[in-house]
Amino acid sequence: TGPVLIDTFGRRAEDLRISLTDKCSLRCTYCMPAEGLNWLPATSVLSDDELVRLAGIFVSLGVRTIRLTGGEPLVRAGVAGLVARLATLDPKPELSLTTNAISLADKAGDLARSGLNRVNVSLDTLDRAKFAALTRRDRLPDVIAGLAAARAAGLRPIKVNAVLMREQNLTEAPQLLAWALRTGYRLRFIEHMPLDADHLWTMEGMVTAAEVLDVLSESFELRPLGHEGHAPSEDFEVVDGPGRADWVAPENGPHRVGIIASVTRPFCRDCDRLRLTADGQLRTCLFAHQETDLRALLRSGAGDDEIAELIRTAVRAKPAGHGINAPGFRQPERTMSAIGG
Ligand code: GTP
Ligand code: 5AD
Ligand code: SF4
Repeated sequence: TGPVLIDTFGRRAEDLRISLTDKCSLRCTYCMPAEGLNWLPATSVLSDDELVRLAGIFVSLGVRTIRLTGGEPLVRAGVAGLVARLATLDPKPELSLTTNAISLADKAGDLARSGLNRVNVSLDTLDRAKFAALTRRDRLPDVIAGLAAARAAGLRPIKVNAVLMREQNLTEAPQLLAWALRTGYRLRFIEHMPLDADHLWTMEGMVTAAEVLDVLSESFELRPLGHEGHAPSEDFEVVDGPGRADWVAPENGPHRVGIIASVTRPFCRDCDRLRLTADGQLRTCLFAHQETDLRALLRSGAGDDEIAELIRTAVRAKPAGHGINAPGFRQPERTMSAIGG
């Protein structure tokens, strides 16, 4: 049979990221303004039935992993029920969730029982006051409880994503890593991308992967491991560092830390992703200026074959890459929170 969704650069699309809502329970300063954004009208947000039907079509086209994102996906009601329905697709896709973990403590058990395989949790600082300043909500204890609940529910591996900002948390990188090694969560540092609502991103202002490595290397001995499959992070083995005696043994492989260097070391050539926004628009790239309106076709009463054909056509036109480093780069209209992280 072979790949069914393939673009003109020969890349297969096998990973679908579904945004369940553009709303969020935090207001990270590098993401959205304090007052929030103009949320999508409820009528344009896909229902569970619509999502499950579209997901089924994607799976029939060769998609093997589905990640639920937001905004904050757990702000939407009934996510465990949706996961249970996605878990009945054949062949069953690997199901994961990217969350800020604010309400994960309550939901991790249900999600795991419904068939969720793993979670990635966004956490940029372990300092409560800094967390409150950065996210504009004093919720750090909820996140820590959410992480613990995810572990107790058997979700594995648990990855933690930290965006580093020079003025806020860059110097905390070594403490974050020491904590991750002690607790057994897999930490990845993310380069800030030009997708924020307030257009705060600048090439000069962003913290680069090279800088993060410099800061970490002052305390830790690192050895490059490369990418794991199509994962965006470049991993490093943490060979040695402070507190080594207290590090939790990883489930498989060595102690590691990842860097997601979307801007300075793009991995677009290896990209296997597609994105479905909460309002049913297919995006073949985070930075695409074009979207394909699957919602309109779906709601017009189209059959699965017709929808599948539109998806194939859209994937074929997937752009080569984000072009952040190219002259004339323009940030897309939609922000990260409305696309799905
Ligand atoms: P894993 O399969 O667990 O590695 O998931 P993931 O890292 O792809 O998912 P996650 O939602 O945790 O994404 C973490 C970060 O990776 C995001 O915040 C983005 O910074 C980056 N990222 C994810 N997808 C893309 C992409 O398609 N392009 C670029 N440039 N960055 C991406
Ligand atoms: N650039 C990079 N990462 C971002 N995130 C949110 N906005 C941006 C941005 N502009 C991160 C969140 C979360 C993940 C889903 O995306 O911190 O970890
Ligand atoms: Fe919410 Fe994620 Fe944006 Fe923070 S980065 S405000 S958690 S959508």
